[in-house]
Amino acid sequence: MQSQSKVVDYLLETNEFDWEIAPGKTVKAWGFNQQLPGPTIKARKGETVSIKVKNNLQEPTIIHWHGIRLPAAMDGTDSVQRPIEPGEEFEYRFVVPDAGTFWYHSHYNETVQVEKGMYGAIVVEDETDPVLDDEKVIMIDDMKLSASNEFTKPSWFIPRIVERHDGREGDTLLINGKENPTLEIHGGQMERWRFINSSSARYFLLHFEGRQFKIIGTDGGLLEAPILASEALITPGERLDIVVGPFEEGETFALESLGYNRMTFLKAKRQTFATVKVKEPKPSVAFVPDKLRTIEQLAPHDTPVSRKVVLSVGPSLKDGMNFLVNGKMHVNDKPVVVGETQVWEVSNSSMMDHPFHLHGFFFQVIEENGKAPDYLSWKDTYNLKPRTNIKIAWMPDNRPGTWMYHCHILEHHAAGMMANFDVIDGSKPYEEKPATHMHHHH
Ligand code: C2O
Ligand code: CU
Repeated sequence: MQSQSKVVDYLLETNEFDWEIAPGKTVKAWGFNQQLPGPTIKARKGETVSIKVKNNLQEPTIIHWHGIRLPAAMDGTDSVQRPIEPGEEFEYRFVVPDAGTFWYHSHYNETVQVEKGMYGAIVVEDETDPVLDDEKVIMIDDMKLSASNEFTKPSWFIPRIVERHDGREGDTLLINGKENPTLEIHGGQMERWRFINSSSARYFLLHFEGRQFKIIGTDGGLLEAPILASEALITPGERLDIVVGPFEEGETFALESLGYNRMTFLKAKRQTFATVKVKEPKPSVAFVPDKLRTIEQLAPHDTPVSRKVVLSVGPSLKDGMNFLVNGKMHVNDKPVVVGETQVWEVSNSSMMDHPFHLHGFFFQVIEENGKAPDYLSWKDTYNLKPRTNIKIAWMPDNRPGTWMYHCHILEHHAAGMMANFDVIDGSKPYEEKPATHMHHHH
C-alpha cells in the first residue's frame, strides 16, 4: 500500500501583460500569473504537485517541467499531449522524487514564448539539505528589444542567419525579470543561491568580481562534496546551486558574467547582471558539511557505448544552416528498454557549443574526451564544446513513453537539433510509430 502523499496545488494562468523590467521600461511580456518569472513552485521531496495551467494567450501552449523525473504523459511536449488551446485548462500532476532546483517553461513555439517570459522556478526541498541562513532563486535571462522596448523579429536574411546560428541573445540582461536588480545579504551570513539559466541562448559565466563561492549542487541536486570556485559556467537550461558569503557589511559588488567564447558570430563580453549589497551583520546558523551525499556511479567509464548521438551543423539553402542529430533534423531515435543501463556517446562535430538536454532522466557524465570527470554529478543538461565528445550513463526506470533530447539553445532545437525516442517495457512487443512532425510552428 502506498501512503497518500501531500498534494501541493498551483494555478498558473498564462497571459500577455505589461512587465516593468526597469523604472519606465515596460515590455509586453507573456508569462504566468502576470509575473516574470512565474511563481516559484515549492514542494518537499516525495510530495505530489498539481498544477493547473489555464491558457489565456491567443495561441496554444504546452508547459515542460525541466528536470523533474515524472511520467511521460506529464512531460509537457507535443509528443505526449495535445497543445492547450486558448481558453483551455490542463492539469499537470506528478510526484517530485528528487530534491533540487528545477524549472518550468513553455515547450511550444518556445523561441517566442520563452523569450517573452514563459518560465518559472521549481524548488524541491529535503531534510538532508544543508542549513543556510537564507536562500534565493536567481533566474538568468536576456531579451532582445527594439528602441521602443518591443521584441524584435529577425526579418532580413543576415539577422535571421545570425539568430539561427548563435541563438537569440539580447542586450537587456535580466535577473528574475529585472534589469540590474540589487540583491541583499546580511553581513556574516551564508545563503544558498539557486541559479537557473532560462535564456534562449546566453552562456553565463558566473563571477562575483573574484570572490569565492562553494558549488553544492547541479541539475539533479547536491554534489557529493562542495567545490570552491570563483567562476562557473551556466549554460541555457542548466542549474547551479552555490553557497555565498560570509561578507562584510557595506561590501558592494557585481553579479556578473565573464565573456565566454562559444564560437558565435557575435562575441561575448563581461557584463553586470545585478548588484550585491551587504547589509548590517546578523548571526549565522549556516553549516555546509564536507560530505553532502553519496552518488553511486552508474557505469564504469570504460563501459561499451550502446548508442552514438552526433550533434552537427549542415548547410541549408533556405536558412543558411540546419542543426542536426546524426545527420538529420527532428529525428526519431531508436527506443530504449526499461531497466537497461544506457551508455551513450554524445559528440559535437560542429564548430560551436551546444548544451545537450535529456528529458525526464538524469545522466552522469562518465567520460569527456577520453578522460573521467573530476567528480560525479547528476545532470540533465550538459554543455559540449566544439569537437568534444562525452560518454553519459543513465537508467531508463519504469516510466515508459515518448521522451526527447535536444540542444537547449532554443533556436537550434527549433532548427532540428532534437530527437524523440521511446522508453519501452521490454516484456511487451514494440510497434514503431510513424514520424510525428509537429515542429513547424515557427
Ligand atoms: Cu528545458 Cu525540451 O526543455
Ligand atoms: Cu545548439
